[in-house]
Amino acid sequence: MAEPTAAPRSFLDLSDAGGDAIAAMLADAQDRKAARREWPKGKTDADAPLAGHVLGMIFEKNSTRTRVSFDIGMGQLGGTSLILDSGTSQLGRGESIADTARVLSRMVDAIMIRTDDHAKAEELAHHASVPVINGLTDRSHPCQIVADLLTMVEQGKALPGLELAWLGDGNNVLHSILEAAALFKFNVRVGTPQGYEPAAEFVGMARAAGSQVTLTQDAAEAARGADIVVTDTWVSMGQEHVHNKLAAMAPFQVDAALMAQAKPDARFLHCLPAHVGDEVSEEVFEGDQSVVFDEAENRIHAQKSILLWCFGRL
Ligand code: CP
Ligand code: NVA
Repeated sequence: MAEPTAAPRSFLDLSDAGGDAIAAMLADAQDRKAARREWPKGKTDADAPLAGHVLGMIFEKNSTRTRVSFDIGMGQLGGTSLILDSGTSQLGRGESIADTARVLSRMVDAIMIRTDDHAKAEELAHHASVPVINGLTDRSHPCQIVADLLTMVEQGKALPGLELAWLGDGNNVLHSILEAAALFKFNVRVGTPQGYEPAAEFVGMARAAGSQVTLTQDAAEAARGADIVVTDTWVSMGQEHVHNKLAAMAPFQVDAALMAQAKPDARFLHCLPAHVGDEVSEEVFEGDQSVVFDEAENRIHAQKSILLWCFGRL
C-alpha cells in the first residue's frame, strides 16, 4: 500500500509549529479579527483561504468551545467541518486509529482530535496523510494556549519576560503554558498542592529554554507580582475518580486576596468551563481583571491561524 510522501503539518503540541510560526499565527489572528469586527459570525473572510477544504473533528471527550470555534472558524475561512463522536462512529466500536486515520485522510483535508490519551493523537498523526490537530489530550491543550497568548497580547502584555502565575492543578493546560514559556521566554510561577505539580518534562523544557519556573505550595508566593493569573478546573475530564483532591486544592482558589498579590493591572485567565466557587471566586471571575470571555472568543481567531499554518498558508 502506498505511503504518503510529504509529511503533513500536524499540530500536536506548540513546538510542532515553534515560536516564529506561533508569532505569525498571533499576528494573523489579530488582523483577521480586526477585519471582521461587527460582521455576522457566519460570514466568510474576504479571501476565503480554505475554500473547498473540510476539517473532520473526532471527539472522545465533551467540548463546547473547541467544537464551536473550529466549526465556525473553518466556515469563516471558507471551508466546512464535520464531527465524529466516539459514541456514534466506528472508532467507538473498536475500529483502529490507524484505519480511521487512513480512511479520513481520503475524505477530509485535516483532522482534529480530542481524546483521553495523547498517544492516540500521535498514532493518528503517524498514520494520517493530512494534518492532525490536538484539540486537547490528557497531556496538553496547545490550541487553548494560542488563544491565551492572543488574549495576553491584546491586553497589552509583552510575552518575553512576562510573569505568569498558575494556581491549582498541574494539568494539560499548564503543560502547554510551560511549552509556550519556553518558546516566548516568559516565566511561570506554579502554585499547586504537593503531588499535583506539572510533568517534569514540561518544567524542564521551559527551564532549558531560559524561562524561570517556580514550583511552590504557597499560593500567595505564586501570585506575587504576576502579570497574568491563570487557573483551570481542579478535576479535568477523565479524572473524576480522583478522591480527596478538592480539599487539597482549596487554598489555591483564585480569590480577591490572591489577585491582590499580583500586579494592579494583572489579568485573570481561565480556559473554561469554570467551577465558580472552586478554583475561582465569583468576585474574580466576574471582576474587571477577568478576560475569560475575550479568551473564549479568541478560540475562534486562534483556531483559524492554526488551521492556516497546518495548510501551509502561514
Ligand atoms: N477550553 C476548552 O477547551 O473548552 P471546551 O472543553 O468547551 O472545548
Ligand atoms: N483541564 C481541563 C481543560 C478543559 C478545557 C480538562 O482536561 O478537562
